[in-house]
Amino acid sequence: MEGSLSQIVSAPGFLAAQEDLICLHCRQPLELQSHQELFLCRRCPVSYPMPGGIPVLLKDSSTYITSMFSQYSRHLLSESQLAKELEISAEKNPRRKNMLLNWKQAMDGNSLYIKEIQDTLQKSADINQLASLLLQPSEISYATGFDYLRRDWCWLPEGEQEIEAIEQNIESQIARYAPDFDNVLIIGAGAGRVAWDMRKQFSRVFAMDKSFLMAHQFHRLFKEDIRFFEINTKNLMHNGDGIRMHRASLLPPWESEQILPEMDTVNYFVGDALSVPIRDHSLSCILSVYFTDLVPLRSYLGEIKRLLKPGGLFIHFGPLDYHFENLSDRLSANEVRAEFSAAGFSWGTEKEVISTHLKSSVSMVYKTYKNWMFSVNRKPDTDYSAGLIESSVIRLKREVLYETKGSITVDTELLKEVNIALPAGDTYQGADSVLDILRLVDGQKTISEVVDMLATEYDLSSQSSRREVVDIIRSLIDKEIIQIIPSC
Ligand SMILES: C[S@@+](CC[C@H](N)C(=O)[O-])C[C@H]1O[C@@H](n2cnc3c(N)ncnc32)[C@H](O)[C@@H]1O
Repeated sequence: MEGSLSQIVSAPGFLAAQEDLICLHCRQPLELQSHQELFLCRRCPVSYPMPGGIPVLLKDSSTYITSMFSQYSRHLLSESQLAKELEISAEKNPRRKNMLLNWKQAMDGNSLYIKEIQDTLQKSADINQLASLLLQPSEISYATGFDYLRRDWCWLPEGEQEIEAIEQNIESQIARYAPDFDNVLIIGAGAGRVAWDMRKQFSRVFAMDKSFLMAHQFHRLFKEDIRFFEINTKNLMHNGDGIRMHRASLLPPWESEQILPEMDTVNYFVGDALSVPIRDHSLSCILSVYFTDLVPLRSYLGEIKRLLKPGGLFIHFGPLDYHFENLSDRLSANEVRAEFSAAGFSWGTEKEVISTHLKSSVSMVYKTYKNWMFSVNRKPDTDYSAGLIESSVIRLKREVLYETKGSITVDTELLKEVNIALPAGDTYQGADSVLDILRLVDGQKTISEVVDMLATEYDLSSQSSRREVVDIIRSLIDKEIIQIIPSC
């Protein structure tokens, strides 16, 4: 393992991306405070830490960081116990001594990298929460593995073949169906190879994964290579294959003399597909590679729709090899098609792509997947706000049912979020200012009068802040909460 690198500085790329990132509580833009290593909401007092320079953009980032820290602490403890047991077994089995001690050494080597992550998280962990979280069972998978790092960044022939099968197929869909090449989001981005390669197609790439390890592996490669061990305890022809040392690097060996590139237009953060910190209708494309079977589709289909621009492209690649327990969410391909159609997507193409998955050349066993690849485009919404001008008179379209969420401390009343029930059963999430807008909409005032009245309570001195209010009104019209009164 290379020397410790707790500080991974990735702020410049995020500075350019901050316009698209929003607070998960009040949905207002985030601002990067690179000197403090955090993102701050421009409106409510919520901050999102960046341990080791990696943004953790989750609804409760602090609990996540503390819980990951405790998960890694438990993992390291159990690894060290296992290592001790291997040492004892080695003494008792002279003929297998070397093999057993090699496994121990490899485990110790991999633990050094996990320890580095644990140290990084410790700096942002909340010690007060720690005691209660230590007792909780591990929750997040993909927290300790190196398989995706091996496939993505070790430049082995078997890994490269798998990457080629994925990328060739999704690139042809992008070329054919993407509405434009502004930006792409990769959900469950893993070690990040597909995300990195997408920078050639799109002006900006957002990569998001719920595993801190995955994000850390990607960020770390921009500083130095990662050396780790592949540990095989079965399906081996030769003892020597029980451990293989690998070197993961951003550049392939034939380019290793070149200067390491900057992360630049690729922004990899820790995030959850169920609640993505990116503006509504802002993405050209979303890629789901070996992800659709990890989290029930119905739990984040609404997010995909919210994030994509009208005409935006969603591509799925992988099997339906469900990893969750609930059988009612294990949809067949037919049902997946139906879900997308019902949610307002038009079907593009689909194809079967056979490829191995995370194959190791030294193992007698490997998986072959009949991957299902499909692409769908989000149909444009009915454009209720077409023709909107500042002199348009607006009124409520129907009774508005809403719920608010907030909290009060001794000193201050904290953030408030408003959820408005929409006719189709969805909800519109907004800040509490949305309610102030709705209170002013009376069927007599024009949009500019509403904005002027709002300016007596909010700072709307700049053109951009007035435009933001008009944009909120536009989205309320598109969601059929408000309507324009036709002028006669
Ligand atoms: C099977 S791996 C695939 C990784 C990557 N797409 C690839 O093919 O190389 C799935 C990834 O999804 C991540 N993941 C699981 N649940 C998630 C969630 N709710 N939001 C975002 N990522 C998640 C896991 O941490 C893991 O890295």
